[in-house]
Amino acid sequence: MAKIVKKKKVGFVCQSCGHVLPKWSGMCPACNEWNSIVEEIVSTKPRVFSPVGAAPANSITGAEKPIRLSNVDTGDVIRFDVGIGELNGVLGGGLVRGSVVLVGGDPGVGKTTLLMQTLSNLSEKGVGVLYITGEESAAQLKMRGERLGINEEKFLVLFSTNLEEILDAVRGTLPKVVVIDSIQTTSTDLVESTPGSVSQLRAVAHELTSLAKQDGIAIILVGHITKDGSIAGPKLLEHLVDTVLYFEGGAEYPYRILKAHKNRFGPTDEVGVFEMGESGLTEVIDPTGFFLSERLESEPGSAVTATLEGTRTLLVEIQSLVVASPLAVPRRTSMGIDYNRVNIIAAIIEKKGGIELSHHDIFVNVAGGIKVNEPALDAALAASMISSYLDIPIPGDLILFGEVGLSGEVRGVSQGDKRVAEAKKLGFNRAVVPKRNADEPAMPKGIEVIGVKNIIGLISSLFGEGRGGKK
Ligand code: TYD
Ligand code: MG
Repeated sequence: MAKIVKKKKVGFVCQSCGHVLPKWSGMCPACNEWNSIVEEIVSTKPRVFSPVGAAPANSITGAEKPIRLSNVDTGDVIRFDVGIGELNGVLGGGLVRGSVVLVGGDPGVGKTTLLMQTLSNLSEKGVGVLYITGEESAAQLKMRGERLGINEEKFLVLFSTNLEEILDAVRGTLPKVVVIDSIQTTSTDLVESTPGSVSQLRAVAHELTSLAKQDGIAIILVGHITKDGSIAGPKLLEHLVDTVLYFEGGAEYPYRILKAHKNRFGPTDEVGVFEMGESGLTEVIDPTGFFLSERLESEPGSAVTATLEGTRTLLVEIQSLVVASPLAVPRRTSMGIDYNRVNIIAAIIEKKGGIELSHHDIFVNVAGGIKVNEPALDAALAASMISSYLDIPIPGDLILFGEVGLSGEVRGVSQGDKRVAEAKKLGFNRAVVPKRNADEPAMPKGIEVIGVKNIIGLISSLFGEGRGGKK
């Protein structure tokens, strides 16, 4: 006889991560979000289980039967070439048919621009496209389209903020790629709360994901970003979609970086670099030296390092200003690089390098407004601070990299040979690197490679013997 197990009717569900609690709580214990727990009907249908060996109690169709993983037909993943190499790369080799991609970024970063250019390219290749906007009128899009020089004939647009209207339009025009700009302005009649609210976002994203999977349509959702840099609304949104991309870059700088944060169809360490210009976004095909373009060579406090972003090597300039502080507690600020890292490196320079920084204000900046975060940056960070303190410039044709440990040791980093090779290509003649990397057989020839073991070695190789050292 079938055993009937009744499931609890109501539960308290975190609207951010979907965690279910037996009772209400101010903070979700799973994702630490405040005020996100809402009472919801979890399930009203009783679950029916059959005893082992008996015929199934529920009517299970063939599709629902478990099958061996080895028998699963993967089919061919069909990818659309979006006509923008940098975007194809970040997507893992093109836009996958039937996938849902969430593109997040600050207002004005260029999400609408990028996606209009993408749809225009696709439409030129004969792929049916539909751009749904709830943010700008169709007339505004047309004006922008003219500026971008997009193909207007095959580019379908719809101004709508209503999901049911959107679904009708999609079924009526049968596009292969749809952009919804934005998910926060779209709402469904099924949910009463205001557009952009958590339950609306959840319901809308759920419907659109089903549409993508059932009809094999690639759907790109635009998502706004909150102050802390995550996509506004529930983390659940990130779980629902296949791919999450973040578009970064400040309005004051022309460059934009597109990063994959999650990708079910490719790696997540790939980045795309773009430049925003008069007629939209253009790709920066070889961004290695892009962030060094305005560097003043041989200024004290400036150090160039090679950092890895996915398969890309970017050369970036770290700038420091170290000045005697009139304050009892000196100021430390950092832009583009982790503040804690700056403090740790300053402490290592003082304790292990013998250079006293505790009465100095320290300001650190990564030139060009790019954000970097990698232990391999430590050596350049340390060198730039010491260079500013000593008021001695680091030679303009020298790059550095290496992780600096708490004992003052300079540790090897991954792909040292690649970093040196890229620097050599851009005309650098010297590289100060961890000893371990310097000893690698693959280290390129034709560039002077100086291996250092610790912070004292780093200081003497750059500024001469006796500059640092324990007092
Ligand atoms: P937009 O794509 O509207 O950003 P988002 O959709 O992420 O809010 O980008 C708007 C910004 O880009 C705006 O500040 C103007 C600038 N821009 C250009 O510099 N060149 C252009 O060709 C276009 C279309 C926009
Ligand atoms: Mg926009």
